[in-house]
Amino acid sequence: MLMNWVEKAIVNNPVRTTLQRHFEMPILMKMGGRMQGGRALEIGCGRGVGAELILRFSGADEVDAFDLDPHMVALAAKRLRRSGDRVRLFVGDVEHIDAEDGAYDAVFDFGIVHHVPDWRSALREVHRVLKPGGRFYAEEVLDKFIHDPLWRRILVHPMHDRFGHEGFAAGLEETGFVIVDSREMWGQFAWFVARKPCEDAARPCAHEQARADDRAVADRASEGGASEAKPNEIACRR
Ligand SMILES: C[S@@+](CC[C@H](N)C(=O)[O-])C[C@H]1O[C@@H](n2cnc3c(N)ncnc32)[C@H](O)[C@@H]1O
Repeated sequence: MLMNWVEKAIVNNPVRTTLQRHFEMPILMKMGGRMQGGRALEIGCGRGVGAELILRFSGADEVDAFDLDPHMVALAAKRLRRSGDRVRLFVGDVEHIDAEDGAYDAVFDFGIVHHVPDWRSALREVHRVLKPGGRFYAEEVLDKFIHDPLWRRILVHPMHDRFGHEGFAAGLEETGFVIVDSREMWGQFAWFVARKPCEDAARPCAHEQARADDRAVADRASEGGASEAKPNEIACRR
């Protein structure tokens, strides 16, 4: 479902850009770690700030990004015009992602899945286009916000079958993801990093060991007060 003009005004402004740069993206990186190169996808890219941050901070070599709204894709194209062939933008629907199975090392969602009436089908598509071992970094708006009398008066969202923190977590697990980490704020917003498991559960892939190593490094760093995002091996290697 497309944003109305009020939501466009809330989302497409410098305050949100600052929040996304200094708050939203660092949380996701801290929770899930950086990619070691590879391809990232941003679903519902809006005006392109997310794709810009993914290129700059996630470690991805390339970013594909799409939005249902051609106007937003045009804004993103303008914003990212200097990124050359590291970014590919297109109009698309998260319920039918125009990509092959296992095409991406990571998928990013900055607040779009709550705009999709059948949000579980969006999660299935994200899972499909991720490589085994790939990560889904999601920031989402929860049912408490969507059903708030003020917001429901001025914003337009699907109202049926919305999710809270637990509901989204359950949706991820039902789709086949393993949740790496999640956080919630005021019962209204949440962050998730989830992993598409490697195909052969009986043979842990290199990714699993790398992840354990990353955790140990991060734990040591946080004991010493460092806040740098931990590196993270994304794809499964045998
Ligand atoms: C709240 S905005 C977030 C935009 C951007 N991610 C950001 O953080 O600024 C939600 C975006 O999702 C897009 N959207 C809604 N339904 C979609 C769908 N089915 N497929 C792709 N994008 C969709 C909207 O057009 C809008 O740009």
